[in-house]
Amino acid sequence: MHLSANLFSRILTFSLSEKGITSAQPMLLAIESSCDETAVAIIRRGPDGPYLLSSLISSQIEIHRQYGGVVPEVACRNHAQRIRPLVQQAIIDAGVTLDQIDAFAATRGPGLASSLLVGLAYAKGLATATGKPFYGVNHMEGHLLSPFLELGTVPPHLGLIVSGGHTLLIDAQSHGNYQFLGRTIDDAAGEAFDKVGRMLQLPYPGGPEIEKHAREGNPKTFRFPRAPLKDRPLDFSFSGLKTAVLYQLQKLDDPQAQLADICASFQAAVIDTLVRKTLLAAEKTGHKIVTLSGGVACNKALQEELRLACQNEGIELRLTRPALTTDNAGMIAFAGLLAHENRKPDPLNIGIDPNLSLTALR
Ligand code: KG4
Ligand code: ZN
Repeated sequence: MHLSANLFSRILTFSLSEKGITSAQPMLLAIESSCDETAVAIIRRGPDGPYLLSSLISSQIEIHRQYGGVVPEVACRNHAQRIRPLVQQAIIDAGVTLDQIDAFAATRGPGLASSLLVGLAYAKGLATATGKPFYGVNHMEGHLLSPFLELGTVPPHLGLIVSGGHTLLIDAQSHGNYQFLGRTIDDAAGEAFDKVGRMLQLPYPGGPEIEKHAREGNPKTFRFPRAPLKDRPLDFSFSGLKTAVLYQLQKLDDPQAQLADICASFQAAVIDTLVRKTLLAAEKTGHKIVTLSGGVACNKALQEELRLACQNEGIELRLTRPALTTDNAGMIAFAGLLAHENRKPDPLNIGIDPNLSLTALR
């Protein structure tokens, strides 16, 4: 089966000859299939940092949109159909052959079990067939490290990861050395965007839609709650905010007429909370580099607020490049490459772990 060109998208990549990359440097192929994106990337370390030689994403968003969210069984079947042609295309795009690849990696968690299984089994199959090492990668480590892909190393930093399933503040001292400072006690930031989007009858996923409408609205129209969580100041809670939006909608005669103001007020409450707690964590840890990653990091208003807040404190804010912000295999390839350079391969009987924790890294 071949994927037609409109079924996948390419991220900006570099050709082998372009950057003086030689065959002495390791090359790794990675697969990401933790949710509703099938993605494959090939990375190679170059003289001045790693280069993505190819990076393809086949998104299923259009399929799941009709159900208002991801249907695991449908996602898994689509991954299984798309994975082989996508791997073939990634190898062609990179201008290499399968036996030139030194190692394979795949996301092993967290994510949807049936989706994870497809990518992990396929990558382990490639490693078995070629006799090359295999690395299971934590999806959240992929997001965490994505702002450093061009740099190729991981300096001490404070990481804010905001995705559909997670809201995490992480004290990262070096590659593989991570400590949780804060996390959500209920809904993740992206989940809150998606649930409020559904309440407002916006298409899935709600995040980008809410951002679009928020641009036309006044963030001060409704004062939605910012949960400070006094006893746990670095943890997050977004379910009260979601309920406050619901109650507000029930009070309005014509919620659609105030869509932009509701979106702007909701978004402002999420951003305020994220920025305030991130700055507090930076102050507590003394980190001078803050990173923002995960799908919600696409939000321009969040980027701007966090940039201003960091600037005021003399902190460097590092963002992920846009094409690597929502789920993709480039970030898994980078985490896989660092694993290949720094630790032993995983045994080929390693399984998926839908609840894999970042601190469970080896
Ligand atoms: O990291 P990601 O692609 O997948 C997960 O690992 O979850 O994040 C997806 C999440 C969704 O909840 C989506 O609504 C949110 O990222 N998102 C946004 C924006 N773009 C994507 N949220 C707010 N504003 C955006 N522009
Ligand atoms: Zn993700």
